Amino acid sequence: MNIPNSVNDAREVAGKRLPRMVMDFLEGGALDEITLRANVNDLTAIRLQQRVLRDVSTMDLSVSVFGTTLRTPVGIAPMGLLSLFRPDADVALARAAHAAGTVFVHSAWSGTPLRDVAAAAPGSVWSQMTFWPDARLVEQHLQRAHDAGIEVLVIAADVSVSSKRDRDLRNGFTMEARPTPRSVLNAARKPRWLWHFLTGPRVTFGDQSVDGKPMSLKQMQEFMEQENASATWADVERIRAQWPGRIVVKGIMSPDDARAAIDSGADAVYVSNHGGRQFDSQPSTVSALPAIADTVAGQVPVLADGGIRRGSDIVTMMAMGADLCLVGRPVVYGMVDSGTPGAERVLDILTEEAAVALAFTGTSCLREVDRSVLSR
Ligand SMILES: Cc1cc2nc3c(=O)[nH]c(=O)nc-3n(C[C@H](O)[C@H](O)[C@H](O)COP(=O)(O)O)c2cc1C
Repeated sequence: MNIPNSVNDAREVAGKRLPRMVMDFLEGGALDEITLRANVNDLTAIRLQQRVLRDVSTMDLSVSVFGTTLRTPVGIAPMGLLSLFRPDADVALARAAHAAGTVFVHSAWSGTPLRDVAAAAPGSVWSQMTFWPDARLVEQHLQRAHDAGIEVLVIAADVSVSSKRDRDLRNGFTMEARPTPRSVLNAARKPRWLWHFLTGPRVTFGDQSVDGKPMSLKQMQEFMEQENASATWADVERIRAQWPGRIVVKGIMSPDDARAAIDSGADAVYVSNHGGRQFDSQPSTVSALPAIADTVAGQVPVLADGGIRRGSDIVTMMAMGADLCLVGRPVVYGMVDSGTPGAERVLDILTEEAAVALAFTGTSCLREVDRSVLSR
């Protein structure tokens, strides 16, 4: 196992292990990837204010969400089709989150049934869903989440339509799976990935099918294409009436939508532009976050993801008003090489870096950080 010292290190190793088309699927964004780049660039453009000679001998990086204390301020965002990176990916990431004392959000488009992931990391798994045109799928999802002991439901509100990803189209990496000859040749040169892919558990697609059996790739393709462009806030209210646990609405990028989410019964808002994979004409999450946090004004927790690659980014997000940060790509980079330990290592790196950055701002408790730590 390579022991990375940074997210960048882990990314480099993942790039060596994964076929180009799979790495592109992980890293790519919508269209010209403007929003994807903005997520990272805007975070790195924000500077923190150094303060000296304040007692930072005891650092507290824990955060509190829904009355639960998480040991680290960074959770794992929902990601579909993780089995393409490693067949045991969902369980590996859920276990890493559990070991680090944080949460893993299982995607509705996962390759591993929710109950299996929930059983592998008791109490650490949240479940992401969305509004499918077939209302039976929504009902079934709620039932499955309930049966698996899930307490927190994350509604992806930003998938009513979906965007093109040019990298995937170029590689022929579409759900019809027509990789270009070049992509196939490249995959053949990644023996470890190929070995895992060919010998690991058969890649099926989760537990979403109407008859309860795991989906085939073809069924998953049809399922992912089921967008519900007519979904509205009334659908959130309907879920609110049915779901006894917590509800988080993901994909909030405007203060007005944050207000609508709270009015519809959400217990938290999740500021996210889907890691730049959906709408490529919008700002970074860190630039949208302060106005949203001001509107929410502490009524419910604010979650945020997008572009976090260093611990200082976590401090910045928290200073801008986040109560919990999440990452997508960074933990996958770590997980590709060694499964749970690699992902856990990435969570540790981010937490350790956040602790040092926070100490340099003269603050010892991350929960108390505010905009005064930003350099003007
Ligand atoms: C490979 C991949 C798959 C994703 N699948 C989903 C998904 O199924 N549901 C969802 O709500 N968001 C999905 N996202 C978006 C992530 O939840 C998250 O918003 C984003 O990755 C955060 O940005 P970061 O990767 O820069 O940390 C996906 C992201 C990636 C990279």
